[in-house]
Amino acid sequence: MSGELELQDRRIILGLSGGIACYKAAELARELVRAGASVQVVMTEAATQFITPVTMQALSGHAVVTSQWDAREPNNMAHINLSREADAILVAPASADFMAQLAQGRADELLALLCLARPAERCALLLAPAMNREMWAHPATQRNVAQARADGATVLGPAAGDQACGEIGNGRMLEALELRDELVAFFQPKRLAGRSVLVTAGPTFEAIDPVRGVTNHSSGKMGFAFARAAAEAGAQVTLVAGPVHLATPRHVCRIDVTSARQMHDAVLPLAPRHDIFVATAAVADWRPASAGEQKLKKDGSGRAPSLELVENPDILAAVARLPVQQRPWCVGFAAESHDLVRHAREKLQRKGIPLIVGNLGPATFGRDDNQLVLVDARGETELPAASKIALARQLVQVIAERWEPHPR
Ligand code: C5P
Repeated sequence: MSGELELQDRRIILGLSGGIACYKAAELARELVRAGASVQVVMTEAATQFITPVTMQALSGHAVVTSQWDAREPNNMAHINLSREADAILVAPASADFMAQLAQGRADELLALLCLARPAERCALLLAPAMNREMWAHPATQRNVAQARADGATVLGPAAGDQACGEIGNGRMLEALELRDELVAFFQPKRLAGRSVLVTAGPTFEAIDPVRGVTNHSSGKMGFAFARAAAEAGAQVTLVAGPVHLATPRHVCRIDVTSARQMHDAVLPLAPRHDIFVATAAVADWRPASAGEQKLKKDGSGRAPSLELVENPDILAAVARLPVQQRPWCVGFAAESHDLVRHAREKLQRKGIPLIVGNLGPATFGRDDNQLVLVDARGETELPAASKIALARQLVQVIAERWEPHPR
């Protein structure tokens, strides 16, 4: 499963201007091709000082274009031909000088000429700046970036961190995988623009003593995929995560918690500030009545200590019970081992929520793919097996269509 490629059939011009970060463009070209894009590399003369067209040709699978006088084009109009065939131009790295050219609408080199000649309504321009922190902070650069933005460019990064010059600061180009994810996100429809979404994900861990606890097999992957899909769709996303080892999706605000009570205490004050609440977390139903402060020791009698359990607060039900003006639109998850639809429908009613998403827990825990059944008052809708991110994007679409604001 999970066969779908995230940039399938996308035609990307990968533009390189001069900078040390050109070394990252090699990996970026590879990642874009891997994600299914067709990649045409265009390099400025300065870029060829940092990495060779040979490398970029081998990785992209297409001859690199470096000059507007390239006579290989039958009509000798590389700037028109290339920009008419592309869905987006991604300039990575975008140097300070290149952005100065853009801001002025200059066309001295093929790459700047391409940006100028592109049909802006169907060929997007994305810039990944890369430069020394002083160059980035310079008012001239900031002016040029603001102008490029005002002229319709999307600026990705830069990030803070170690720089090739040995200094530390803002100006590093985003990493190849981050840029790939930004490009994938760019192409997603902005179905949740202007909305705020609160997501819980992962298991919870209920301490027995300082070294042991009660938890479950939830990996958090479905919840993290949903948080990513919601952010891609333009939502402002807060993710309250149980103990999982997953990278935070880009542009998602993450709060880490351990136990169900911590998750409850993090979620309840945040819920009234969000439009939509999606509870994907596999919250432990019970916790040990009292967690020992010291590790429980065997006493040699051969008897195990008895473990008294008490029920945890139901976070989703508590949010669903908030006064209507404070209540986000709630979506629950049901991870079952059998009778999925029946159990999901029971939960829908018991928790008083408009939508519940059922999945077979043991079949999906830890995996990258899943299959879902959406249960609401109208009936059931099956989302057939696919990667978790593909399913999350479908779920975003369903939620965007069905979501109704509560009167506030
Ligand atoms: O209560 P049950 O586990 O059957 O329902 C699952 C749904 O309720 C999931 O959306 C889960 O995140 C949420 N839940 C919760 N707090 C709990 C138990 C479950 O938010 N204590």
